[in-house]
Amino acid sequence: MTELRVGFVGCGLIARHHAANLAADPRAEIVAVTDLDRSRAERFSADVAPSGAAAVLDDAESVIRASDAVYVCTWTSAHPEVVVAAAGAGLAVFCEKPLATSLAESEAMTEAVERAGVTNQVGLILRRSPAFRLLHHELRRPGTGPVMNLVFRDDQYLPTQGMYGSTWRADAARAGGGTLLEHSIHDLDLIEWLLGPIAEVSARLGSVHGIEGIDDQATVTLVAESGAQAALVSVWHDVLSRPSQRRVEVFASNAHLSLEGDWSGPVRFDRSTTFEPDPAATGELAGAELAAEAAAIDGLVDDPDRAFVTAVLDGGRASPSFRVALRAHELADAAYRSTADGGRVVDVRT
Ligand SMILES: NC(=O)c1ccc[n+]([C@@H]2O[C@H](COP(=O)([O-])OP(=O)(O)OC[C@H]3O[C@@H](n4cnc5c(N)ncnc54)[C@H](O)[C@@H]3O)[C@@H](O)[C@H]2O)c1
Repeated sequence: MTELRVGFVGCGLIARHHAANLAADPRAEIVAVTDLDRSRAERFSADVAPSGAAAVLDDAESVIRASDAVYVCTWTSAHPEVVVAAAGAGLAVFCEKPLATSLAESEAMTEAVERAGVTNQVGLILRRSPAFRLLHHELRRPGTGPVMNLVFRDDQYLPTQGMYGSTWRADAARAGGGTLLEHSIHDLDLIEWLLGPIAEVSARLGSVHGIEGIDDQATVTLVAESGAQAALVSVWHDVLSRPSQRRVEVFASNAHLSLEGDWSGPVRFDRSTTFEPDPAATGELAGAELAAEAAAIDGLVDDPDRAFVTAVLDGGRASPSFRVALRAHELADAAYRSTADGGRVVDVRT
């Protein structure tokens, strides 16, 4: 039986991912959708609700009136207005990342959902990735020793092409920035989650494609309060065989861990205390085995949409929340300020 009426504002690529997850959850029904491009909303409605249950409406206000919870899946610059309206109407809100094109707007949105006391969740979906959850756990395993260095490489082809096919990602007014804000906000969030509170950020960003306001290369150094250091390299290139791909390598004093594949691994670890790799101290997990291990560790549900519906129906907190995303925005903002000032170190202690 349907318990939650869900509305969608923005019916593009990411909306379809969420809709596919919701379709598998009998507790939720998509009842109203809107998009600036009405034909897109109509195709979306026909695909996600063939019974005709998802009304195609004229604007976000109409969707908000028809729903208990709203997914904000517009391009980034349109998120704030919809989020503030939905929170003001008392709806639970799932907003895609980045929250907004600026830190100030991200703060205002976070205050709006918290003031309204509505369940709020952000599309920092890699917090639910079995691979990253296992890596997080392995870094805290006794015998690992203090984390020393983390190398995080994230690359994808310029997402105005291929499956993304979006003109807005080459428009700074709508995207807010390029590879660092639009894409690697995920990575900034993950790095602090993995290493603990970040104290300092410095960065050099560049643009080989020369699209105004859209960085396509970023090198960010982050130093944690623990003393651990991280290097984030984020690139938007034109190698069309490479959609979003991440590789993470972590050196702790007594362990080497690596992750390839955002979601399903493999995650590898080596805690050998001998010059030859010790089979008892090395290992690799991937796929279903990795997912089972991650679930056994933290009991989290992989599916961010199922988790959101549960949080709304239980009247509880959703995760990751706007507050979590706001911190990632603070780190991104520090990186942009650093590069504008020649790579100056920016203090981001809270
Ligand atoms: N969590 C993730 O991993 C992930 C992945 C992809 C995209 N995203 C984020 O999701 C958002 C959307 O990205 P996308 O790839 O789906 O883009 P998209 O271009 O495929 O779809 C965006 C849609 O929003 C519509 N839109 C814009 N402003 C609107 C408004 N005011 N009212 C109604 N509709 C409006 C556009 O017409 C378009 O159809 C972006 O913020 C992006 O950063 C997140």
